[in-house]
This record gives sequence, structure tokens and C-alpha cells, in this order.
Amino acid sequence: MATVFSGVQPSGDFHLGNYLGAFRNWVAAQGDNEAYFCVVDLHALTLDIDPEELRRRTIDSAVILLAVGLDPEVVTLFVQSHVAEHTRLAWLLECTATMGELSRMTQYKEKAARGEMVRVGLFTYPALMAADILLYQVDEVPVGDDQRQHLELTRDVAIRFNNRYGPTFTVPRATVPKLGARVMDLQHPERKMSKSVDSPMGTVGILDDPGEVQRKVMRAVTDAETTVAYDPERKPGVSNLLELLAVATGVGVEQAAGTYRGYGQLKRDVADAVVALLSPIRERALELGSDLGEVERILSVGAARAREAAAPTYAAAARAIGLTSP
Ligand code: TYM
Repeated sequence: MATVFSGVQPSGDFHLGNYLGAFRNWVAAQGDNEAYFCVVDLHALTLDIDPEELRRRTIDSAVILLAVGLDPEVVTLFVQSHVAEHTRLAWLLECTATMGELSRMTQYKEKAARGEMVRVGLFTYPALMAADILLYQVDEVPVGDDQRQHLELTRDVAIRFNNRYGPTFTVPRATVPKLGARVMDLQHPERKMSKSVDSPMGTVGILDDPGEVQRKVMRAVTDAETTVAYDPERKPGVSNLLELLAVATGVGVEQAAGTYRGYGQLKRDVADAVVALLSPIRERALELGSDLGEVERILSVGAARAREAAAPTYAAAARAIGLTSP
């Protein structure tokens, strides 16, 4: 039995990329493993977010995670800021990571390039992410492709800490799915689907209604050719659609490509497959949304369980680095 941890920021509407790159694999990992899934609200503070909106999105995020199929009886589902050890360990890891390492993080560089004002937290973000993971002695972190670099940093920091202060943390590894790890924007297939990029027609929300999903997929940007082939470099739009179809239906990309003569039928089938994937989630989210008290109860049980697991690791790390207890 492995220990699994992953997280999502409550900073925008969740989309198909979040589902295929991450949530789907979280659901697959539950049961056989000890699993922790976290709404990382502290990470959302690194960009400007309205307090009321943050509160609402935090609970809505938990609703979606339950709706995709996480079972709170089996996994620990919680909110990052409810477990104080995350920020406490983050400081120890900020004092372990280097400026050079953090400066090389592409997510930081991209976001910093967009923002007018860069917060210190945006820069130190990966140290907090490393703390999230290392607190739970984690073996596997199911994430999309864009988190690989953060996971490498987490490993480097864990190894450095263990070598310098004695064995304290399990060194985790990223588990990135073969398909769906990098779902691209339907309007701009050269860039990934993202909460932070303003591209409503290119982003399929997990809660979009079937009509919206159909419209967005049917209007997806392809190319001037007519042959359906999987070639992400030359044909990013068509390849993205083929990948969506493959993950949604379980058919291989090459095999799927071989069955189409034109883009119209491919789009229709992708739209149907995505609707079939998302409709049950949407229905369940609507149901859960009517009983937020129950969702809050689940999060409070989750926080208590997470604290129990996190406290001994933090205490061990603090002791190892030379801090005293009162
Ligand atoms: P976040 O909130 O941006 O995304 C959550 C998860 O969704 C995946 N993802 C995608 N996968 C495929 N295609 C896409 N277009 C796409 N967009 C997003 C992400 O890879 C991620 O797995 N830093 C993290 C949150 C975090 C975390 C952690 C993750 C904080 N602490 C500890 C794992 C472990 C982030 O911003 O994810």
C-alpha cells in the first residue's frame, strides 16, 4: 500500500484538464492506497483573489472533488490552511531550497511575467508545495505534466534535508498519466487549458452543461488540412481532440485517428464522449451543492485526520534541524 497525496488550487473554475490530468487518477488511486487530497487555499493567495470568492471557491472545490468520485470514507479530503503544519514545514524547506532552484521554476516565471506585482509567496510557492507532500511521507503524487518540475524540486529538497539532518522524509515521485497529462486549450491548441488564461471558448469547465461542451468542442481550432492524424507538433488541435477521445473512450490515439476521414465526425464523437464523461459529475455536484453543511463536516473530519498524520513528521523535521520544543 502506497501513500498518495495531491492538491488543487481553488483559484478558478475547474476544467477538463484538471479532471483528465489529475482528478481522474486521484479517484483511481483511492482504495488501494492511503490517500490525501487537499484544496490548497494558501497557494491561491499567491495571486490576487477576492476574500469572499476564495471562501466560496474553497468549498466549491471540495464539492467537485466529491462529485468526481472521491470517497471521504476512504480518502482524507481537507483544506490546506486547516492544518498549520503546512506553513510551519514550508519555512524549514524555504531554508533548505535555494534562490537558484526557485528562480528556475517555469510556472513562477510564466505567472510573474503576466502579473503586475509579484508577491514573495509566488516565488516561494514550490517550498510550500514540497511541505504539502513531505508532511505525509508520500510515495506517489498524481499530477498533470505541468507539475513535474515542482515534484523534481520536492525530491531534491527532501534528499538534501535527509542528507544534512538525517532521514526524515520519504522521497516522493510524480505519477503523470500517459494520456491527458497536458490537455490543450481548444482555441489555442499550442497552450495548455488553464484556469488563469482568459479563453472561455477554449476551456471546457467540469460543470459546463452539455450544450456548452458541444459548442466548444465543435468550434475547436484544427488546421487547414483534412487528414485526421496524431502529430502534436504539426497538428496540435487535431491531436488534442484525438487525445481527449482516447482518454474518454479507452481507444488508442493512433487507432482512433485511423477511423476518421474528416474533422466533423471526430469533433462530434469527442463532444459526445466528453459530455458522457462530465454529465454524471455535474449532476452529482448540483446535488452536493444543496447540502454544504455535509461538505463542511467532511472537510472538518479530513482536517483532523490530516493533522494527526502531519504532526509527527513536522515534529521530527523540527527536531532534526535543531529546533527545541517548549
Ligand atoms: P493546479 O491547481 O494548477 O492544477 C491541479 C491539477 O490539475 C492538473 N492540470 C492539468 N492536467 C492536464 N492538462 C491541463 N491543461 C491541466 N491543467 C492543470 C495539474 O497538473 C494538477 O495536477 N501547484 C499545484 C497545486 C499543489 C499541489 C501540491 C499538487 C499545491 N501543492 C502538492 C500536488 C501536490 C497547482 O497549481 O495545481
